[in-house]
Amino acid sequence: MELIKDINKSQIEIYNECLVNLEHLIVPTDKLISNLSNFLAQLKNSFPKISWIGFYITEKNKLFLSPFQGNSACTEISFGKGVCGISALSQKTLIVDDVHDFPDHIACDSKSASEIVVPIVINNSTWGVLDLDSYSISAFSKIDEQYLERCISFLANKLDLDNFILS
Ligand code: SME
Repeated sequence: MELIKDINKSQIEIYNECLVNLEHLIVPTDKLISNLSNFLAQLKNSFPKISWIGFYITEKNKLFLSPFQGNSACTEISFGKGVCGISALSQKTLIVDDVHDFPDHIACDSKSASEIVVPIVINNSTWGVLDLDSYSISAFSKIDEQYLERCISFLANKLDLDNFILS
């Protein structure tokens, strides 16, 4: 029990460091693609459990592969399909402890074992999603959900993302 508490505490500390670093890294006058790329680099380099992290951005009710770190991935996901599409449609964060038990999961990397998808909702519309994969089962918890949502909310506010609606 103590050990679990300590692991969780260190995850929280790492997320808090990320939030401080993002304050400096995300610069509204920089290009959107540069800011999104640096956002991902900060998180990927902070958490060894992440095998893949990236954005899928909405265009005409579909999600399109956007900046990411990791192996090549599927380029287009319809709303309602896969973990990303279900999150985009429901506008809810989804945690999948074991992707093999989730029939709708779209496998881009056969080694992926668990996943979390955080929707990016601007003015009630799904602007896109942030998707994270891990090669470990149950890699993501409510702590990741809470802090990733905070990171996304920080990003959306700082960049005024509603000015970057693709269509
Ligand atoms: N697994 C996702 C597809 C995207 S990849 O994981 C990068 C899904 O089921 O929507």
